Amino acid sequence: MNISDGELMEGMLAEQGYEIVRRPEDADVVLVNTCAIREHAETRVLGRVSQLNGLKRERPDLVIGVTGCMAQRLGTTLLEQAPYVDLVMGPDGYRSLPESLERIAARRSTRARTQLAVLELHPTENYQGLEQLRSEGPVAWVPVQRGCDHRCTFCIVPYVRGPEKNRDAREVVNEVEGLAARGVSEVTLLGQTVNSYRSGEVDFPSLLRCVARVAGVRRVRFTSPHPNDVTPELVEVMAEEPAVCEHLHLPAQSGSDRTLRRMLRRYTVDELRAKVELVREAIPDIAISTDIIVAFPGETDAEFRDTLELMRTVRFDEAYTYKYSLREGTPAARLPAEDFVGADEAQARLEELIEVARGIQAEINAAEVGRVEEVLIENPGRQGGQVLGRTRRNKVVAFDGDTARVGEYTRVELRHTTGATFVGVEVSATAGALA
Ligand code: 5AD
Repeated sequence: MNISDGELMEGMLAEQGYEIVRRPEDADVVLVNTCAIREHAETRVLGRVSQLNGLKRERPDLVIGVTGCMAQRLGTTLLEQAPYVDLVMGPDGYRSLPESLERIAARRSTRARTQLAVLELHPTENYQGLEQLRSEGPVAWVPVQRGCDHRCTFCIVPYVRGPEKNRDAREVVNEVEGLAARGVSEVTLLGQTVNSYRSGEVDFPSLLRCVARVAGVRRVRFTSPHPNDVTPELVEVMAEEPAVCEHLHLPAQSGSDRTLRRMLRRYTVDELRAKVELVREAIPDIAISTDIIVAFPGETDAEFRDTLELMRTVRFDEAYTYKYSLREGTPAARLPAEDFVGADEAQARLEELIEVARGIQAEINAAEVGRVEEVLIENPGRQGGQVLGRTRRNKVVAFDGDTARVGEYTRVELRHTTGATFVGVEVSATAGALA
């Protein structure tokens, strides 16, 4: 979502005649787009921004802006703490970005104080009508929804991104048609709870079907769905539409009913398992990934073990694992102090979870060695003469190939796995060598 928001800002600024440069040293304006989901992300931003202050000492005209969720969360406090920051702008403020930069420039010419805060949440801002500046390449992010109507007790998103706002379905499909015409063949639909999308008569399964049928679109993904909106209708579209990839990200968060209840996730472990079964029954080959939080306040050791049990029985292809991070203003932050899990215990749980998750991933992937899969070549590899691509099931594969072939589809035999990723050999290339 943040990459996509960055592209949105770049699109608006390019439209106004700004040139996008890649190095802060070459820029007149540097925007640091931020995440607020965990404290760690925010600490890193503060470090980055203070580095930029070094540049500003050399070039006092440099404009430094902090945008996104952390800007929204810290607001004017950030301006006080970092007086060299000229602009803080939350995720609903991007439409006024060019105008805000002009205001800063105008104030500077009068030597007035230049700091500007754009922090209003707009309950309807979905950035309809604005065009993202996307980098060249075969894959594109397409936001269809912003904000969130859930209130998971650990999560800051509803407070920094406001309520759920969906884009008009026609506009989404038009945008995807435009992307396909420019050579994009894989799109990922984005939203905080993307599958609760609804715009007029169009719900998420219908939107997904329409996007999957756009000529030239060969792969469609979406992230992140809420398990409760993984409905039979959605699964039917996933199974029926050839373009929808055999991959589902299904954030479980915990394997304990009591913890899920206290997280206000609105499902039980059994209900989550039923969703997994529903999907696997319709799409036997599907890869499923998840998000898990350990050490949510009040999580007992036994409840943590229930999460490990969920991992061992569902066997996710990939798990993104997090230690609970206290976010001021969220309901969980107000739980009694004695509920908070100690740092050492939280770290130990995280490490144990990672070990289990990695072990399962390595077993699943080892069993896939030998398969021949369709791979979209997405990037040059880390080693010369190699390229990186992904299978439909979202597995990363490195193999020998010319970097000029980025954007092509090919068939690759998976020869070896590191556990998380694969090394492969192009099947057509092998055939060529034999001939
Ligand atoms: N602490 C730790 N992890 C969190 N996430 C969201 N909020 C928090 C938090 N306060 C995780 C969830 C979510 C992912 C994007 O980030 O697992 O699915």
